[in-house]
Amino acid sequence: MTNHGNSPMGHGRPVVRRRIPEGAEVRVAELYWDAFGRKLGPALNPPETAREFIAAHLHHDRGVAALIDGEVVGVAGYQLGGRALTGGGARDVLSTYGTLRGLPRLMLLALLSRTPAAHELVMDGIAVSPVHRGRGIGSLLLTEVAALAAGHGCRRIRLDVIDVNPRARALYERHGFAAARTERTPYLRDLMGFSAVTTMYRPITVADSREER
Ligand SMILES: CC(C)(COP(=O)(O)OP(=O)(O)OC[C@H]1O[C@@H](n2cnc3c(N)ncnc32)[C@H](O)[C@@H]1OP(=O)(O)O)[C@@H](O)C(=O)NCCC(=O)NCCS
Repeated sequence: MTNHGNSPMGHGRPVVRRRIPEGAEVRVAELYWDAFGRKLGPALNPPETAREFIAAHLHHDRGVAALIDGEVVGVAGYQLGGRALTGGGARDVLSTYGTLRGLPRLMLLALLSRTPAAHELVMDGIAVSPVHRGRGIGSLLLTEVAALAAGHGCRRIRLDVIDVNPRARALYERHGFAAARTERTPYLRDLMGFSAVTTMYRPITVADSREER
């Protein structure tokens, strides 16, 4: 594990766990909502309900967590074997939001959903607490996800990045992701705040497998 030493803010070094710790569900939901609330809001608002929904349906085994002094400060969710970090099926959405209000929400969630191809791990979102950004935690999470993808025999990682997030895209490019295609989504600009989505891939390398060992 990379040693990041102590920060000027006096925090300990980050450690990475291949599972969301029990009891960290609300914290993870908050991080996720801070990062993706603009995008997920139309489907899961109001924020209070959304955070509760995410926390209640979390799949602990589909998230890599970064912790400092026992507190989760970053999370990377992924899909593998038909399971994603954020769970909750149609029935859960309808029982939380009601049938009438739930149905259009299901359509929006379907619009945002991605299905992995064979031998592919799909990243569902990486979020670092705003006060801890720019200190290498996002990079640690990406490295760990690549190693676990190698361990599962995946050949590549896929993720989607929106046009209003060039810094995240730059980070992915530094980690070996390359843009494959961009889908323009002007109809989502007012609703979700972005008007194009770029799909990026990163092949799993021998170095990832070495990291896994
Ligand atoms: C993207 C994100 C996970 C990066 O985590 P991080 O711990 O800051 O990442 P690192 O410290 O390893 O790398 C920093 C790099 O991340 C990128 N980055 C993206 N957004 C950033 C932000 N708000 N603050 C700092 N760095 C950011 C930059 O490329 C930055 O490098 P730079 O300072 O040279 O520009 C984090 O900024 C975040 O949670 N952003 C909000 C959620 C998000 O946009 N997720 C990606 C959706 S596709």
